[in-house]
Amino acid sequence: MEVKQVLHMNGGFGDTSYASNSLLQRKVISMTKPIIEEAITELYISMNAPNNLCMAELGCSSGPNTMVVATEIVKIVRKLCLEIGRQPPEFQIHLNDLTGNDFNSIFRDNLPMFQLELRDEKSRGQFSPCFVSAVPGSFYGRLFAANTVHFIHSSYSLQWISKIPKEVELLNKDNIYMSSASPTQVIDTYYNQFRIDFYTFLRCRSEEIVSGGRMVLTILGRRGHEDACREGCCYIWELLALVLKQMVAEGLIEKEKLRSFNIPNYTPSPREVKEEVEKEGSFGINHLETSEISLVDWSKGFRSADEPDWHNVSRGMRAVSEPLLSEHFGGFVMDQIFEKYSEILRECSNKGPETKFVNVTVSVTRNGK
Ligand SMILES: C[S@@+](CC[C@H](N)C(=O)[O-])C[C@H]1O[C@@H](n2cnc3c(N)ncnc32)[C@H](O)[C@@H]1O
Repeated sequence: MEVKQVLHMNGGFGDTSYASNSLLQRKVISMTKPIIEEAITELYISMNAPNNLCMAELGCSSGPNTMVVATEIVKIVRKLCLEIGRQPPEFQIHLNDLTGNDFNSIFRDNLPMFQLELRDEKSRGQFSPCFVSAVPGSFYGRLFAANTVHFIHSSYSLQWISKIPKEVELLNKDNIYMSSASPTQVIDTYYNQFRIDFYTFLRCRSEEIVSGGRMVLTILGRRGHEDACREGCCYIWELLALVLKQMVAEGLIEKEKLRSFNIPNYTPSPREVKEEVEKEGSFGINHLETSEISLVDWSKGFRSADEPDWHNVSRGMRAVSEPLLSEHFGGFVMDQIFEKYSEILRECSNKGPETKFVNVTVSVTRNGK
């Protein structure tokens, strides 16, 4: 399967869209804001308040999360300029995702909101132009001209690997991801693909980012190697595999179809991220941190008073995985898959330890060239 031709989040603003079901990812971005603020402040000061600032959001998707970090960065830099008595820079903002991404919604719906949110600052004399452009293509290749980008942000995107290695297809049987029932060779092969992809990503960015430029990356990951299959990301795919197996038993999905389906994700540990950054050698690490989000909190829409609503999680997973699933199994089974999925999530919610998602955030600086 050519991941880059099939993968995208559900577009538009409907019930099953990513725009309406990306609260988990929004929460993750808000948890990493202090790291982003520190990186952009240090960058701007260390570069002696440049007249233009070029940033890129990689794996931007569509919906309310797309422009969150860009908005924040423009505000932080303009505030900084006010404090140090400088004219704010002109901003170039690149939005990147794969070609199937709903870029039209961004420009039609998100961009006017972005402009509105920053309009107030115009009246305070803090106005400077922001030029926003779309850059479709895989971030596992070059996206920008050499030495042109100051700051790169990416959240919940780099766990998507570029392809499913052949060995995974051959050996992972009825599992659809790294599961506790997967042979170790499957887990090693997934890891190897992540290493190749992440190294390539760093190599490409090292050419594009100016010396002293910054990058903040948050990846859906896990705590350590020994936990490979026990954390939230593996568990929720395992529950989806249970649904698909049920549907095979009911004759709604062909067994062979299930056997040839695997999710192109690898959730790295902080150590694995660090090793690749050090091996590639162009970036120095400023921060490497993990944070956690609980599956139950997600189901409650992050309102602690509410009861768990497993439809929230099911819709969130649908928004992310429907294009891959419907390409493989056919669109006609999607409603059934995700109805059964909410049921299974509810049934399993009281079993075992509390499920958590682990976020690995790394903040790096481009070494001198
Ligand atoms: C879960 S979404 C995250 C979107 C957004 N950053 C957020 O936090 O809400 C992951 C995004 O990464 C994109 N993506 C995955 N692999 C990619 C690649 N190789 N190149 C560019 N974008 C990619 C997907 O298409 C998807 O839109």
